[in-house]
Parts: sequence; C-alpha cells; structure tokens
Amino acid sequence: METVKQSIGIFDSGYGGLTVFKSIAAKLPQYNYIYFGDNARAPYGDHSFETVYQYTLECVEWLFAQGCPLVILACNTASAKALRTIQQKILPLKYPDRRVLGVIRPTAEVIGGFTKSNTVGVLGTRGTVNSNSYSIEIGHFFPDLKVVQQSCPMWVPLIENNEHNSPGMDYFITEYLDELMAKATDIDCILLACTHYPLLIPKLKNYLSENITLLAQGDIVADSLVDYLDRHPEIESKLGKEGECKFYTSGDREKFNTNASLFSEHEVNAVHVPLKS
Ligand code: DGL
Repeated sequence: METVKQSIGIFDSGYGGLTVFKSIAAKLPQYNYIYFGDNARAPYGDHSFETVYQYTLECVEWLFAQGCPLVILACNTASAKALRTIQQKILPLKYPDRRVLGVIRPTAEVIGGFTKSNTVGVLGTRGTVNSNSYSIEIGHFFPDLKVVQQSCPMWVPLIENNEHNSPGMDYFITEYLDELMAKATDIDCILLACTHYPLLIPKLKNYLSENITLLAQGDIVADSLVDYLDRHPEIESKLGKEGECKFYTSGDREKFNTNASLFSEHEVNAVHVPLKS
C-alpha cells in the first residue's frame, strides 16, 4: 500500500515566513514541507482583525486540503490576529485532528534569557503591536520584564518590493529605531517580531550599539517545533520524511521565485494558487 506523505505547512502573508522556514528546515531536514505565501494580499500588517483572520483561515484550510496535519503560522500578524480563533473555534469543530501553531508564544517563552536590563524592545507591524500580544504573552512568562513596542509600517512593503537595500530603507530604519529607543534608554534586546525583518539585520546593526542583541525568531520557532514534535507522536507519526519542500504563492510565481532566493537557501520553483478575494 502506498503511504501518504504528509507535510508540515508553513504560512506567511508573503516572503517573511521563509526566514522561519530556513531555520526549521535546517533543524528538521527530514520532513516534507509546503510553504504558502499570500503575496497577492500582503502586507497584512494594517488590515483589521476580521480581514487577517479570514485571509489566514483561507490559507490554513488550503494547506489542510494539501494534507498538512500541522501548520505553522510563520507570521506574527496572523499569529496575533487569527491563531486563537482558529485554535479555539475552527479546529475543534472542523479539523479535530489538525494543529496550528504560531510564533508569538515560543518567542515569549524564551525572551527573558536575552536581556540583562530586563527591558526589551519589540518591533512589529501595526497589527502585531496594536494587538498587544507580545506584552500579554511575555507577561505570563516574565512578569517583571518591561516591554517597549514600536510599529514599523513601512518595512514590510519595502521588503516585499525588494527595496530593503535601498537608501529609502535607511530613512525608515532610523525613524522607527529612534522612536523605539526614545521610549526606554535601557533596552538591551530588540525582538524582530515580524518574520520579514531579519532581512534588515545588516542595516539595523549600523544604527544600534553593539551591546544591543537583535533577536530574530527563526531558531526559536524551530527549537520549539523540535520540542513539539517530540511531545506529540500522534502528529509526528503522520509526517512524511522524504525531505521534500514545495512552495506556493497567491501572487506572481516568477516574482516569488526571484525574491524568495533572498530569504531561503532552497531552490524555489513556486506554483501559483488563486485565492477567493
Ligand atoms: N511576516 C509578517 C509578520 O511576521 C508580515 C506581516 C505583514 O504582512 O504585514 O508579521
């Protein structure tokens, strides 16, 4: 009998989730993966809760239809605005055997280990920052930690349009970093709470003192997935182990292939998926 190869689904509004996928695939190369970027509707950062929820649910259901028993929302905005409703309302009713995990909780669980001053800066989209998800989640694990947030609404549009090395990017980097640092002078760890932002690390370093740790989420999420699969053999046992990676985008596949190479070491040959709206 032919065995069905089930994949881990990785979802982001666009390319950003590839920074997380890269770490996951490095730590867990044996599994099969399906990456889905909703590039046609990115960025999600300024959309309402309802819109991000509808878009995310549609993409998660598409990944379920491809047979994924487990989907990682490799997007902070979707994790902040859609994850809880999907986990609490949709899965028990429609997909009791499937699981969806986000990126906020695994980050909140470990962030206290990266600061000595007990003050962390969180940079994210407007959606993530306004949801206050990081302050709330970090407060559960590190109640004494001070969380200072700054939204960076121009960063994702510039990155999605491959402008992250342009001089215009520097303008918006200094603008948001200055606003963040003006809120607390003792920040010694800055969390890049948007999976697109690791692409900006070389530029960000030019504007920050060396004693500030820039924290990207890829390895944190990957470690948390290793742990999750250890603790959940009922999900792990369903996963195919051929090391296959497939890429899908709701946007233009040629553009996805070119831009994805900036984020991922994998060869990307994406397939276009038409979505409803
Ligand atoms: N990578 C997404 C995140 O982590 C980008 C959000 C957007 O599309 O604005 O939040």
